[in-house]
Amino acid sequence: MQTNDTITTQLNHRTVRQFTDQPLDKETLTTLYEVARRTATSQYLQQFSLIHVTDLAKKRRFASICRQPAIAENGDLFIFVADLRRNQQIRRKNGVDDGRLHTMDLYLQGMADATLALQNMYVAAESLGLGGVILGSIRNDLKAVTELLDLPAMVIPVLGLRLGVPAEDHEQKPRLPQKLLVMGRLQ
Ligand SMILES: Cc1cc2nc3c(=O)[nH]c(=O)nc-3n(C[C@H](O)[C@H](O)[C@H](O)COP(=O)(O)O)c2cc1C
Repeated sequence: MQTNDTITTQLNHRTVRQFTDQPLDKETLTTLYEVARRTATSQYLQQFSLIHVTDLAKKRRFASICRQPAIAENGDLFIFVADLRRNQQIRRKNGVDDGRLHTMDLYLQGMADATLALQNMYVAAESLGLGGVILGSIRNDLKAVTELLDLPAMVIPVLGLRLGVPAEDHEQKPRLPQKLLVMGRLQ
């Protein structure tokens, strides 16, 4: 099997849910945002936004929605949203209608854009020695998340991501063997 720094980071992945009190610094944030921005995007539509939630009251609310108290205690919290509104605004500014923006296809592309940007940012954070956890549990109460972040129509929460300096160390969790996951022959 081949290896390099990127693959080593990816193969060492493990979820971390407890972090030190040290927040991400500005340089790290800028780096991670740039990685998210560079993510491949279907039809060049870039249908995602990410929200850095720093307000403690809001983090407490997310802790309750996700049933994960640590969200309010440590780590930086990011919410990735499928954002079809930006392109809607651009289209309207240019005097055209919404086009395909209300189709399931573009909605799913927005979900993919947000998910891929999150994963790209997560891997970059891990490569910097940070740890993190994805939060699908923000969808325990989508209405509450939408109100909490004051999200407009055409903006749909997809996943949360907590990042920080790890304050816990886990064994790696197992995965299914390649032969169950990969259909096809090795060349
Ligand atoms: C889409 C997605 C949603 C997840 N949601 C949560 C979550 O809400 N809370 C949590 O503690 N972990 C969550 N996780 C992390 C998984 O629990 C974790 O990846 C899994 O247990 C495997 O552990 P590992 O990442 O350390 O290999 C999520 C992971 C993914 C990919």
